[in-house]
Amino acid sequence: PAPGWAIEADVVVVGSGVAGLTIALRCAAAGAKVTVVTKARLDDGSTRWAQGGIAAALGEGDTPEQHLDDTLVAGAGLCDEEAVRALVTEGPGAVRRLIGTGARFDADDDTGEILLTREGGHHRRRIAHAGGDATGAEISRTLVEAVRAAGIETVENALVLDLLKDASGRAAGVTLHVMGEGRRDGVGAVRAGAVVLATGGMGQVFSATTNPAVSTGDGVALALRAGAEVSDLEFVQFHPTVLWLGPEAEGQQPLVSEAVRGEGAYLVDADGVRFMQGQHELAELAPRDIVAKGILRRMLEQGAEHMYLDARHFGERMWEHRFPTILTACRAHGIDPVTEPIPVAPAAHYASGGVRTDLRGRTTVPGLYACGEVACTGVHGANRLASNSLLEGLVFAERIAEDIASAPAPQAHQAPAPRVAPGEGPLLPPEARYTIQRIMTEGAGVIRSAESLAQAAARLEQVHGEATEALGRDGKTAEPGVDTWEATNLLLVARVLVAAALRREETRGCHWREDRPDRDDRAWHRHLLVTLRPDDT
Ligand code: SIN
Repeated sequence: PAPGWAIEADVVVVGSGVAGLTIALRCAAAGAKVTVVTKARLDDGSTRWAQGGIAAALGEGDTPEQHLDDTLVAGAGLCDEEAVRALVTEGPGAVRRLIGTGARFDADDDTGEILLTREGGHHRRRIAHAGGDATGAEISRTLVEAVRAAGIETVENALVLDLLKDASGRAAGVTLHVMGEGRRDGVGAVRAGAVVLATGGMGQVFSATTNPAVSTGDGVALALRAGAEVSDLEFVQFHPTVLWLGPEAEGQQPLVSEAVRGEGAYLVDADGVRFMQGQHELAELAPRDIVAKGILRRMLEQGAEHMYLDARHFGERMWEHRFPTILTACRAHGIDPVTEPIPVAPAAHYASGGVRTDLRGRTTVPGLYACGEVACTGVHGANRLASNSLLEGLVFAERIAEDIASAPAPQAHQAPAPRVAPGEGPLLPPEARYTIQRIMTEGAGVIRSAESLAQAAARLEQVHGEATEALGRDGKTAEPGVDTWEATNLLLVARVLVAAALRREETRGCHWREDRPDRDDRAWHRHLLVTLRPDDT
C-alpha cells in the first residue's frame, strides 16, 4: 500500500517498552524531533508484564565482573563478551538514571537501600524490584509519564509495516497501518533519518506464552523484509514456571516469577518430591534452560502435564506483600498459593536472538537501529540470564541515543522513495495465526528434533504456499489489517526460526534437540546469521 499521510521527524521509534521510551527520551533531550509509534497503547507491550525485576550489580560486595560471569555461563558459550561487559558495567548507572526519572524500586524502610532478590543463574542477590512483583509496570508508568511530560509525539494503534529506504539504501522512515482511535487513520508513513526498532518479542509464535498478544515478531519481520541481518532466532527461551491452566490454554499465560524461587520456593513433582537438587549446584535457581529441561524431563517420566511450585511456607503476609500480582493471578484461577502448591509448566517467554546489531545498536541497514528484545546485541548468547532484558533495554537505549546524536544529521529522509519495499507478498487470513502457533508448539517447542522441525517446516511452507498461490491465481489476499499483518509476520519469523533450529545440529542453551543431545563446540560455537532474499517474503 502507498502511504496516505506522512509525519516528518528526526527519529522514529517503533515500540513503547523500556527500550523505545528510553531512546525517545534521550533523543528528545538531545534536541531531536522524535515520533514514537506503537501498535496498541503506549503501555501495552511486554515491559509492563515483567515481574521479577532488573539485574544490576548494585549490592554490597557484588561487582559487574561477577554479573558478567553469570551472564556468560547462562549464555552457554555464545555471548559476545564485549556486549556483556557494556551491559554489566553501564547497568548500575542506567538503573540509577531510571530512578532519577522517577521509578520507585522497593527499598529498606530504615536504610533506604534498594532491596535485591535472586533469580535463576545469579550467584548473588542482584535483582531490583518494584511493587513486589510489578517491576515492569512501575518502569512503564515512569517512562510513559516522562514521555508525555516531555511532549514527545506519539502515534498509538499503529502497526508498523515496512521500512522506507532512500535511493542509497539508507533507512528513511517506516510505513504504518493506523487503526482505531487517533488523529490519523489507514496507511501512512513517518519519515525520519534514524529508525529505531524497539518492537519487543515474538512469543505469540507459540500457543502458550507469557508475552502479550502484541508480541508477534513485527520488528524482526520488518527487518528481514528490509534486508537486515537476523541472528540466533533458534534460541527461544521457555520460562520454567508459568501457571498451568490446562492443556488447551492458549495465548498469554500468567507468569510465576523466578523471584518466587529466589525467595525460597521449590519445585516438586506429582508425588511431592523435589527434583532439581542433584541436577545443578543451584538446584531450582539454575539457569532457566536447565530448570525448564528439568521440569520437562520429570513431566515426561511421570506422564504429567505439569509440575508444582511450592511456596506455602511463605505464609499469607509474605505472599501479599512480596508477590501481590502473582497471588492475585493464581487466586483468579482458583489456586491459592498460601495453602496449595502452584501447578506450573514451561511456556515461551523470550527471544534471545533477533535483529543483529553492533554495540551501538546499529543493524546491517544504515540508519536502522534495534533495541531490546527485537535486537540481538550478543548479550544473551544461547540463553538469556534472568532479568537482564530490562537492563539491556536501558543500557543499549542510551548507547543508541548517543550514536544518533553523534551521527551527522542525515539529509536523506527529506526525499525518501515513497514505496513500501520489499514486503509485497500475500497477507495471511487472521485465523492462520492459530495454525502457525499449533505447528510451532508441536514441532519447535522446548524439545525439538530433526524430524519434528522438518515437519514444522513443511507445514509452514504449506501455509505460505496456499497464500502465495491464491495471490498468483486470482490476485486474492487477505484484507490489510492488524490481524492479517500479524499473521503474516508470525509466519515469516516462524519459517526463519524453524530453519535455524533445523540447521543447528546440537543442544545448547535453550535450543534442545533430542536427536543431538550434546553441545558441539567444534561445529557449532558460532552464530547463525540470516538475511532474506527479496523473493523469500
Ligand atoms: C521472572 O520474573 O521470572 C521473569 C524475569 C525475566 O524474564 O528476566
